[in-house]
Amino acid sequence: MRSINYSTIGKSLPRLDARQKVLGNPLFIDDVDFGGALFAVTLRSPKPRIRIKSINVKHALKVPGVVDIITARDIPGSGKWPMVINDYPFLADRQARFVGEAIALVVAATPQAANDALSRIVLSYKELPNVTDPLSAMTPESPKVFGKDNIFSKYVVKKGDINKGFKQAQVMVHGIYQTPYQVHAYIEPQGVIARPEPDGGVTVYGSMQCPYYVREAVSAMLGVSKNKVRIVQKTTGGGFGGKEDVPALVSSHAALAAWKTKKPVKLIYSREEDFDSMSKRHPGWVEISYGAKKDGTITACKTACILDGGAYSTLSPVVLWRSAVHAAGPYRIANVLINAYAVATNKVPCGAFRGFGQPQVNFANESLIDDLAVKLGMDPIDLRLKNALRIGDTTATGQKITESCGLVDALKAVRKASCWDKKQKRSRVTSKVSSFGAKLETLDVTPGIGVSANFYGVSLGARGKYLDRAGAYVQIDPDASVTVSVGMTEIGQGAKTVLAQIAAEMLNAPYENIHVMDVDTTRTPDSGPTVASRTTLMSGNAIVDACKLLRERIFKTASSALASPLRGEAARRAGGGDKENAVLAYNGKFKKGKKTVSFPDVIKECYAKRIKMAEEGWYCAPPTSFDMKTGHGNAYATYAYSANVAEVSVDTQTGEVKVDKITSAHDVGRAVNPNTLEGQVEGGVVQGLGYALTENLTVTNGKIENPDFADYVLPSINDIPQIKTIILEHAYSKGPYGAKGIAESPLIGPPPAITNAIYNACGVRVRSLPALPEKIYRPRS
Ligand code: MOS
Repeated sequence: MRSINYSTIGKSLPRLDARQKVLGNPLFIDDVDFGGALFAVTLRSPKPRIRIKSINVKHALKVPGVVDIITARDIPGSGKWPMVINDYPFLADRQARFVGEAIALVVAATPQAANDALSRIVLSYKELPNVTDPLSAMTPESPKVFGKDNIFSKYVVKKGDINKGFKQAQVMVHGIYQTPYQVHAYIEPQGVIARPEPDGGVTVYGSMQCPYYVREAVSAMLGVSKNKVRIVQKTTGGGFGGKEDVPALVSSHAALAAWKTKKPVKLIYSREEDFDSMSKRHPGWVEISYGAKKDGTITACKTACILDGGAYSTLSPVVLWRSAVHAAGPYRIANVLINAYAVATNKVPCGAFRGFGQPQVNFANESLIDDLAVKLGMDPIDLRLKNALRIGDTTATGQKITESCGLVDALKAVRKASCWDKKQKRSRVTSKVSSFGAKLETLDVTPGIGVSANFYGVSLGARGKYLDRAGAYVQIDPDASVTVSVGMTEIGQGAKTVLAQIAAEMLNAPYENIHVMDVDTTRTPDSGPTVASRTTLMSGNAIVDACKLLRERIFKTASSALASPLRGEAARRAGGGDKENAVLAYNGKFKKGKKTVSFPDVIKECYAKRIKMAEEGWYCAPPTSFDMKTGHGNAYATYAYSANVAEVSVDTQTGEVKVDKITSAHDVGRAVNPNTLEGQVEGGVVQGLGYALTENLTVTNGKIENPDFADYVLPSINDIPQIKTIILEHAYSKGPYGAKGIAESPLIGPPPAITNAIYNACGVRVRSLPALPEKIYRPRS
């Protein structure tokens, strides 16, 4: 492959937003002040399921400074939040279905007055029968939270003949795996400010991932057209899916209060209230069986997956779809049967979280495949390599992989970089002798090493295809500064940096000249959500599209300035085409022979000639498909692939696990900014580490018992292992410069790699996360 000399693509340029963030300049939502804004707080359901008899606000309204108390009756438009299924009321009316569900809003001149009034509202209610366990919710006798059977959504994926597949098998393995809630732990809790506009519309500023989702909800709730609702994202300190759908609910509340009081209204959640009422990762129950031949060929995979959706469906139908598509693992398996269910319970609704339904199933399939390796007497990496998806293979949905598939590479890379072959054999399970030669039975702390593999459908895929498009607007001003607007948000992941690099490369503009705006829904067309590892691919391609015409004009102008005919694409590559006459473009300079013009000079010339220096771009994802009856189809346009090796030390006397090192390899198509990409991997690994070992949200009778960071334990700086990131580039022909996506996959692989390493260390198979010490310790007998 000929390597192309890019100016900015593939370079670890400094983050576009770094300087301002380090200086503390960006405005997070609670920093935004319009003067004269009112403050809202939320009355919430105290029980898992209640019939609301009355809301007595008499005493609350007497509190000085209280302006209004707002209930479902005040909603001028739709009472239900438009989502996949419209079952979630903006404010509970007759019934509330989970602890923390919003019932009323108190609006006051100060937060103190609002809270004081809140405590004086008298809510009369009758408790109703509820169900908080998803497996019970699926039984016929369960109270019904949703529909006739408490099932929000179900999918089946069938490939080949599952009975035949198990008949062909010489070895079978089976297991049931449980995964817990996970809390996003973004830096700032949910918060927005809504400002009423003179035309009857409203502007909402807030911490969010998906401004177009917010616009959809606010417009439906107020019953006003979308062109009167403007959503502006403010600096957002991480989203991880937690700022995906639910900011629409928070924004609708603030917008309702602003509309009714005709004043700007600020609504900022406390951390506890955020824990209680906002989305989480779905707890998962996964039962899975693999059948294989003695040589390791997997012949069958059967999986049943249940996600606990909570009281309203929100994004469960799409989260579950991702589980279903990926549940058999990243393997070539001829016979597959997957059944997946999202179940309603009287608990806080679960939704998007980095990985979006895949960590649950990946923990199951990657744990079980390790059991299969033990049963076959095969090395776990050899077993994965034997079955790993390669170009030409088909996935569980029957999708043929035609390009950009780096799974084999990723497995080989982590094997080599972690010195797997040496370390895997030292373990107790195979040798009972440590690397120091000591008998491990006599050691309290024993080392272990484990591997996992995964693939990740990039962008929305067939279940979200109508939203899978993106717009961009690029404007070059006379001083050669460039403004880029897209519909997808910077949420800490480095989107602005990567998108600026793509614009700079296309235009041959200096990177420093590019400014990427915060998202404002009046600036670019609806580009769908900032989710699903899709921003680089979708917004990147929209920018490429917007820059195409600009690039042509710039190069033509440069060419005539250098008195040389343009030689097309080849001309910009050093050594390409007709060297004598070619204009070389690199790092903001255009060159022919000894003559050079700079990007600003060319732009000045363009303006002198009155050439249009602004364009819009658009990108539509390639076609995808999914047959609801068979689960057959090209589920995603492309996949990212990764492999992880975890090295752990397990104290068998206390059950404590220390993760020493994670080696994480990713085929991302193209690394636009390797440094930023590495940051994504490191962040994902640490989030996966918390999911694997410590994050343990405890919910009793529908109530969260540890809604704070004192009792919900996140990994701290001391827990972070050595992380080795390996970037692999199997270019995707339809990606911007070959890029696919990286955001979510880094979280998915580490948990099963860690539990596989625990097994390797001490022979304990952890089948439910988090892998708390009490599940592992084995006192010396
Ligand atoms: Mo996401 S979990 O696709 O923000």
